[in-house]
Amino acid sequence: MSIFASLDAAPNDPIFHLTDLFNQDTGPRKVNLGVGVYQDDNGRVPLLKSVEKVQKQMADDPDPWTYLPMRGWEPFNEAAQELVFGADSEPVASGRVATIQSLSGTGALLLGADLYRHQIDSDAPMIASDPTWANHHSLFRYAGYRTGSYRYYDADAQDIDVEGMFADIRAAEPGTVVLLHACCHNPTGYDLGPEHWGPLAELLAERGLMPFIDLAYEGFSRGLVEDAGMVRAFAAAGLSFFVASSFSKNMAMYGGRTGAIHAVCADADEAARVKSQLARTVRSLYSNAPFQGATIAATILTDPDLRAGWEEEVTTMRTRITDMRAALLAAGVEDMGFITRQAGMFSFSGLSRDEMIRLREEYHVYGLDTGRICMAALNSRNVEYVASAIAAVHRG
Ligand code: LMR
Repeated sequence: MSIFASLDAAPNDPIFHLTDLFNQDTGPRKVNLGVGVYQDDNGRVPLLKSVEKVQKQMADDPDPWTYLPMRGWEPFNEAAQELVFGADSEPVASGRVATIQSLSGTGALLLGADLYRHQIDSDAPMIASDPTWANHHSLFRYAGYRTGSYRYYDADAQDIDVEGMFADIRAAEPGTVVLLHACCHNPTGYDLGPEHWGPLAELLAERGLMPFIDLAYEGFSRGLVEDAGMVRAFAAAGLSFFVASSFSKNMAMYGGRTGAIHAVCADADEAARVKSQLARTVRSLYSNAPFQGATIAATILTDPDLRAGWEEEVTTMRTRITDMRAALLAAGVEDMGFITRQAGMFSFSGLSRDEMIRLREEYHVYGLDTGRICMAALNSRNVEYVASAIAAVHRG
């Protein structure tokens, strides 16, 4: 009898399984609005010019495949930190942010979750918005947390239930990790406004909660600086918290697994201790991070010309998504005016599970069963088809 005999097959991942189904679909009009991946107007994942230039430099002058330190590549850590907090900001200047390279945003979440549970509060639960990215719950449960939710999406109002959210967070037990989306809320597309950041910071401090901000989409809502607003407001309010940042989306380096975990601390001495603990966590989990993505990101962020070119590319991606929201609406999904009030890659369409299945089976348009559709995969050639498919299934 094999020692693996008792294992059942794992359930399908709601996001990546859809990509598998999409790849098997031979329909000529198929559209993948499932996974959160930006595609250009030709339906291709772009290789950003800024990224390509550094890739070419690296190919012309290749580095040996040596190990990075456990904390990752320090020039990358510094550049990633400055992007999130601001190069001239107080937290950066005072050295009170501990930043280390991670396996993109997911890896950053895992490092923070692991450190907090093993070194700070072994019994802390985690709460996230209802709904949230499906992997938030899986990841924190895997790290040993009990997970729960706070109210967020109000389907009737087609907006955020801010009162409910604050009430649920107020009721959380001290020490609870409160998972927050900095911008481009995944899956709903509804974000808190700047007017909420201060009161939220006050509530989190008053209740002794541990904020953990997921900043996976910096640059995709209003701009690179604006989208880090919640992070900067919390730092200014003197909170201790984690931020998970990622270059998967804004540098279109999905397979590069390049991101960072930032722990905002009280002072530089505390940050140095936290950084050493994060590095030790990396060592225990996977030893050290890969260097290619970090080299590309750090080079782009620190070279003025590459940086300017990249910022323009981020603007192009953001603008195209906004245009596609308007185009979908104009193409005939009239009762979905909320689509242009949502931000970022995703829209919570309000379509039922049955409607999403019909969309997939009858029209080869793939979105999540929850009704989430990826606006960043629409283009001028498929938007009318998608709009007519949605209208057909929605009318029943
Ligand atoms: C998504 O939500 O589709 C993306 O963040 C990709 C992923 O890892 O799930």
